[in-house]
Amino acid sequence: MNGKARISPGKLTKQTQVEIAKKIINPISLLSQVFDFNQFQKLGCQVSYQEAEKLSPERQIWVVDLLKDNLYDLYSLSQWGWNESSKRKELLHKDSRFFIVTTDVGMDIAYCHFRFDMDYGRSVIYLYEIQVNSNSRAKGIGSALLCLIETLGKKAKMELLVLTCFKANLIARRFFEKHGLNMDKTNPPDAEEKDYVILSKRLQLKS
Ligand SMILES: CC(C)(COP(=O)(O)OP(=O)(O)OC[C@H]1O[C@@H](n2cnc3c(N)ncnc32)[C@H](O)[C@@H]1OP(=O)(O)O)[C@@H](O)C(=O)NCCC(=O)NCCS
Repeated sequence: MNGKARISPGKLTKQTQVEIAKKIINPISLLSQVFDFNQFQKLGCQVSYQEAEKLSPERQIWVVDLLKDNLYDLYSLSQWGWNESSKRKELLHKDSRFFIVTTDVGMDIAYCHFRFDMDYGRSVIYLYEIQVNSNSRAKGIGSALLCLIETLGKKAKMELLVLTCFKANLIARRFFEKHGLNMDKTNPPDAEEKDYVILSKRLQLKS
């Protein structure tokens, strides 16, 4: 027996699925048969998809600004604090992907930032951000975006949808709970001392 770790066929498959998912070029057309995009139209808006590397300079600023508008207070009060340059790097990372919601008159009002990744040996669609501007909330835009992410995760054969949420963000926690996200098993043992919780939802039956 040499010391080299063996890769089980199962793990190889999950990693391969993640690599395949990362190469999806047009998720909107991929999901056209399984997701009702009219729900955005009924709300007076449209959704588009962009990889971080293709965001215009204006949108690069907007994604950071909306996150700051929405969560600056919670970050400032947390163990992490608000670190704008690290947030910008995270948002604009080469693996970051975005669904962006734009009104019929061309105003960007919401986005979600996600990545396909391996997380503790599981293939996941990781929802880094879901941000709706304050004037556009409670109309169903967040629910439509979350449903879109879930549908894409299933289509891409990811095992789980995973995200991190501030404990103090009670509106978001209720929103995620209502959409079937529960405490993930990777929450650290000292979770009660942390400012955040890791939530997840299974997308595929356990193999
Ligand atoms: C959390 C968040 C993404 C939810 O987005 P949203 O667009 O407001 O979500 P929805 O409108 O789909 O649902 C929110 C609530 O509005 C209600 N709602 C949905 N459609 C509605 C409508 N047409 N009219 C009135 N209320 C409606 C929903 O029932 C839901 O009710 P709840 O308070 O019981 O959960 C949004 O509040 C947000 O961007 N918050 C700031 C950023 C943030 O906290 N992000 C999460 C970080 S982890």
